[in-house]
Amino acid sequence: MSAKLRVLALVHRHLVPPDVIEPGTDTVAAPWRTEYDVISTLTGLGHEVKALGVHDDLGEIRRLATEWKPHIAFNLLEGFDDITIFDQNVVSHLELLKLPYTGCNPRGLLLARDKSLSKKLLAYHRIPVPEFEVVRIGRPVRRPKRLPFPLMVKSLTQEASIGISQASVVDSDEKLKERVSFIHDSIGTAAIVEQYIEGREMYVGILGNQALQAMPVWELFFTNMPEGAKRIATDRVKWSVKYQKKYGIDSGPAADLTESKAESIQHLCKRAYRALELSGYARIDLRLDAAGNAWVIEANPNPQIARGEDFAASAQKVGLGYETVIQRIINLGMRWQPESFA
Ligand SMILES: Nc1ncnc2c1ncn2[C@@H]1O[C@H](COP(=O)(O)OP(=O)(O)O)[C@@H](O)[C@H]1O
Ligand SMILES: [Mg+2]
Repeated sequence: MSAKLRVLALVHRHLVPPDVIEPGTDTVAAPWRTEYDVISTLTGLGHEVKALGVHDDLGEIRRLATEWKPHIAFNLLEGFDDITIFDQNVVSHLELLKLPYTGCNPRGLLLARDKSLSKKLLAYHRIPVPEFEVVRIGRPVRRPKRLPFPLMVKSLTQEASIGISQASVVDSDEKLKERVSFIHDSIGTAAIVEQYIEGREMYVGILGNQALQAMPVWELFFTNMPEGAKRIATDRVKWSVKYQKKYGIDSGPAADLTESKAESIQHLCKRAYRALELSGYARIDLRLDAAGNAWVIEANPNPQIARGEDFAASAQKVGLGYETVIQRIINLGMRWQPESFA
């Protein structure tokens, strides 16, 4: 039996799950689903949990840290004051309070967040990544020769497929310009223009600080996409249940991978995790091209951890149940020593 801990669950202010769940509530469809899964599981494991809804007040975290003396914070925040790139700053604050926390350290969050910086680091470690070019707001689009069409246009820093649609894949300079302007004007960030990797979409969950455990390779299946549509994880593919049903989008263990191919993909993902100095848990997104080459698309520290979603489902496949995963995440957080890192 592991120790019973006081766990401070840090959640977005609108995602504090209700104390009492009314009978008949569909907890899977609730916006606070992940928060509910984590908190109820921690409670079920015997821990004492307090959920704190956070918006822009560090004082509350500090007050609870001093008065309630939690052993650890379970960090489910994806930003601060609705600014996603501030996620790492909150974790830095926890470090300064000397409060252990779950998930990724601030440096890993920073390195993985920037889709240009992270690819530079991965390329240095000879991890295959798409060629790319960044276009800052207010700068003209100049397409270098090493970037032939088709190209993929994304936000440099946004996640969760925000700003990703079929129109993100462009095949002319005119369309490229249009899409870069869309990212600048509608998403409000710099754009990254990448070599488009045609292929299958795969994910690998990883747990660990120094010793890493990779979950089985997971695949996003597009079984019924319309003719000519690109098989990419657009925001509708990721978030619209209706769209998923209509176009046969589903995920599960990667189909027809030889054992050695699966192992080499897992190994590649562990190398990416280390190169980006991640800790706790993460999910690496990849594409496997027709020649069987794997390309790392991005790393997601603190990925979606709801019960039954890709990370948890892939862990379950190797016998790591949801309770075990959540307890492991706690253990990794308790063991992580920010001051002795680097
Ligand atoms: N260079 C690329 N080539 C092919 N598909 C890509 C590329 N970059 C992104 N995608 C597709 O777009 C999806 C979202 O891109 P990603 O960089 O993972 O952003 P997010 O942080 O929003 O998840 C990917 O899962 C993949 O399907
Ligand atoms: Mg992604």
